[in-house]
Amino acid sequence: MLEHGVKFSGMPAWGAKDRPDEVRRMVAFVRRLPMMSAREYRLLAGSNALGVGAANGRFDSCAGCHGTDGLGRGQGDIPVLAGQDPAYLAAALEAYATGQRQSAVMGNAAAQLTPQERVALAQRFAAMPGIAPGRGGNRDAAARRIVERGLPDRQLPACRSCHDAAGTRRFPVIDGQRAAYIAGRLRHWRGAKEVVDARKDQATMPVIARRIPTDMIEPVARYLAGE
Ligand code: HEC
Ligand code: HEC
Repeated sequence: MLEHGVKFSGMPAWGAKDRPDEVRRMVAFVRRLPMMSAREYRLLAGSNALGVGAANGRFDSCAGCHGTDGLGRGQGDIPVLAGQDPAYLAAALEAYATGQRQSAVMGNAAAQLTPQERVALAQRFAAMPGIAPGRGGNRDAAARRIVERGLPDRQLPACRSCHDAAGTRRFPVIDGQRAAYIAGRLRHWRGAKEVVDARKDQATMPVIARRIPTDMIEPVARYLAGE
């Protein structure tokens, strides 16, 4: 219902196409509201929900979700910004603002920023200690193989051929990113099963994400996260 708006109530449709995952999270949040303690509400909604920090400028509104340390306040679906490449973060904000990257949550937040604010906030979060190349890794041999060497028989390139452990920074850092967020992005790039091939997104990451065996999405995400 939230996805398409509520009839006669004036409630608009969800602000992003193609993000049923965001709608599901919002519904889960609303369902839990009656039983929620004030502390849990603040944690889930961010300090902004109580008006705290509104006077302290843009950074506080971001920190409500991303934390003042850019680590995402312990929420699995919120990406770690700390330590990420600043140019990548600024580009992501621009893509949200123009709607090229669909997210109702971030679309609203980014659209309110000037281009200068986008760059300044990206630099501020990126400069914090956080994710770093080489932070990934665990004992899962199959996940390790995909990350380090790829699967030639499926034409799946090694993740490391672009996201290298030395951090040459031409691509976003994914080592030490949250597993739930990585898995969520990969699933979103794969798209719905029903969509015919010709209509699927042919950009680099959507093509790569579709070549990862379905049962390897979670292990690869956990391997990169180092969880
Ligand atoms: C209501 C919570 C919330 C607020 C407020 C918020 N964010 Fe986000 N942010 C998210 C979520 C959730 C995502 C992941 C969205 C997706 O799936 O693409 C995200 C993603 C991002 C990304 C992309 C990271 C990546 O690795 O691709 C950047 C950059 C970002 N946020 C910066 C900001 C900045 C700067 C602000 C303040 C102006 C802000 N966010 C405010 C929740 C929030
Ligand atoms: C040919 C180069 C290339 C290869 C190989 C590659 N990626 Fe990517 N990856 C990219 C680019 C470019 C982006 C940025 C996409 C964007 O901004 O839309 C990206 C972004 C990502 C992100 C999003 C990071 C964030 O902060 O939101 C994840 C997760 C990711 N890649 C995972 C993987 C995994 C897992 C593999 C291996 C199975 C892989 N990538 C292989 C080029 C590559």
